[in-house]
Amino acid sequence: MDELGMERLLDHYQDPRNYGHLDDPDIVYEEGNPSCGDQLRFELKLADNRISEVRFSGKGCAISQASASMLTERIKGQTLEEVKTIDKDEVLEMLGLEISPMRLKCALLPLKIVKAGVYGIKGWPGEDED
Ligand code: FES
Repeated sequence: MDELGMERLLDHYQDPRNYGHLDDPDIVYEEGNPSCGDQLRFELKLADNRISEVRFSGKGCAISQASASMLTERIKGQTLEEVKTIDKDEVLEMLGLEISPMRLKCALLPLKIVKAGVYGIKGWPGEDED
């Protein structure tokens, strides 16, 4: 187990960055992880075509919370087009730990929510099937 990576993950879990809500956000999207029922919500504020403020809220395991916290730092100041280019591999690299296949949904839930919000998607088709 990578100790530094684990420490960093726990730090984001125990002291999540940008946790809370925004007044009058421009983009709001909320989604659950169907395998555990945990739910996260992202709120984004835009200015000059960039994400000027971001908050997340909701409950989830250490991996999903840390991933959400790190993602808020990653996307703040970015354009929506830039956010659309963030992929699964970047998030896994950002987490800095080996994530087991069982926990991939936890790690990637925040990115999924942010992307849905940024793309203006209203729901993920077929989500109830798994
Ligand atoms: Fe629910 Fe990880 S166990 S998001």
